[in-house]
Formats: sequence, C-alpha cells, structure tokens
Amino acid sequence: MQLLQQKIREEGRVLSNEVLKVDSFLNHQIDPQLMQEIGLEFVRRFESKEITKIVTLESSGIAPSVMTALQLQVPVVFARKRKSLTLKDDVYVSEVYSFTKQEKNEIAMSKNYVTADDHVLIIDDFLANGEAAFGLIDLVNQAGAVISGIGIVIEKSFQPGGDRLRETGLQVEALARIASLENGEVSFL
Ligand code: G4P
Ligand code: NA
Ligand code: NA
Repeated sequence: MQLLQQKIREEGRVLSNEVLKVDSFLNHQIDPQLMQEIGLEFVRRFESKEITKIVTLESSGIAPSVMTALQLQVPVVFARKRKSLTLKDDVYVSEVYSFTKQEKNEIAMSKNYVTADDHVLIIDDFLANGEAAFGLIDLVNQAGAVISGIGIVIEKSFQPGGDRLRETGLQVEALARIASLENGEVSFL
C-alpha cells in the first residue's frame, strides 16, 4: 500500500534493527484519513470472504479495525490484555508471550460477542513474532467461529510471525511488509 509506505518513510523512526516507531500516525497519535484508506484496502483484499465481525487486540489494533468495520458494517471486538489470573467463565482466555517485554500475558474475549455463527477477520497493527496473532486465532477458535483471514498493518518480514501465520493456510494480508531495518533505514519487501 503506497500511501502507508510513504507515511512510514516520512514519519517512521528506526529505533534499532528490530523496532520501528510509528507513534505519529498509528501507536500514539492516530491519522484518521490514513486509517480510512487502510480500512478500504483491507476490504479490497478480503473482498471474496464472508466477514461478520472483526476481532483485534487493544489498543493499537482498534483504529484500523474500526475503519475496516465501518466499511463492512460489522462490529469490532477487541480482546483485552490482562495481568491477573482471576478465573472467569464468561471469557475465552489465551496466553501470549511478548518477546519485546519478555513476559507472558493473558488476553481475554467475552463469550457474548463472538459465536460459532461468526466469520471473523482478525486485524492487528504490527506483526513481529506472531504471538499476538496466534493468541487471537486461539480465542476465535475457542468461540467456534470461522476465521476469514488475518489483516496486518505493518509486517516485519524479517521476524518469524509472517511465515508462521502463512503456514496455517489462512489468508494473511499485510499492507506494508518491511524486509529490513538495518543501518537505520526502512527497506520494504
Ligand atoms: P508479537 O506479538 O508479534 O510476538 O510481538 P511482540 O510480543 O514482540 O510485540 C509486543 C508489542 O509490540 C505489540 O504491541 C506489538 O504490536 C508491538 N510491536 C512489535 N514490533 C513493533 C515495532 O517494530 N514497532 C512498534 N511500534 N510496535 C511493535 P502491544 O504491546 O500490544 O501494544 P499496543 O497494541 O497497545 O500498541
Ligand atoms: Na503496538
Ligand atoms: Na499491537
């Protein structure tokens, strides 16, 4: 997606060989026009798929998800991150390991909003190791819903998440695919 690549080139900050900061339009301040274009692009890429709901993870997955959902006229459900191990039987829970933070977290999604009748598009802002995406897949599987595909705003293709996800056979669409962040420069695939 040309517009997104341009925005990353202009405003992204390479923090290390692994980390790209995009706080000016995605992770802190949000650019609504860009999010709208992102929504339209996800709709185009998953045109052939039935989608009754979008599932994402708080917080940075919500903006691109809402813009996509607005086009499709379906609801968005965002899984919540939680520290506590308090058991509740009205939620599906999955464990997600964050390599960035080197800690295990739980993500949880209410049993009320995703059911076996749903066809779910999963959306997230970044794909690195894929832990968050696999956690979301697990939640949707627990609900018995069909997964229609995975939409990612920015994939760091030099990390293993993209390959791991595509190995599942699910349709995975990343709007910007970064081949490398070496030498302080963003190179796209
Ligand atoms: P993984 O899910 O792919 O395994 O990734 P990891 O544990 O490494 O990522 C933890 C958090 O860092 C996630 O956000 C993820 O989206 C984000 N992240 C990973 N790589 C990058 C990067 O290069 N740049 C930026 N800006 N973020 C990255 P989160 O903690 O869930 O935060 P948020 O959704 O509240 O923003
Ligand atoms: Na993030
Ligand atoms: Na995220």
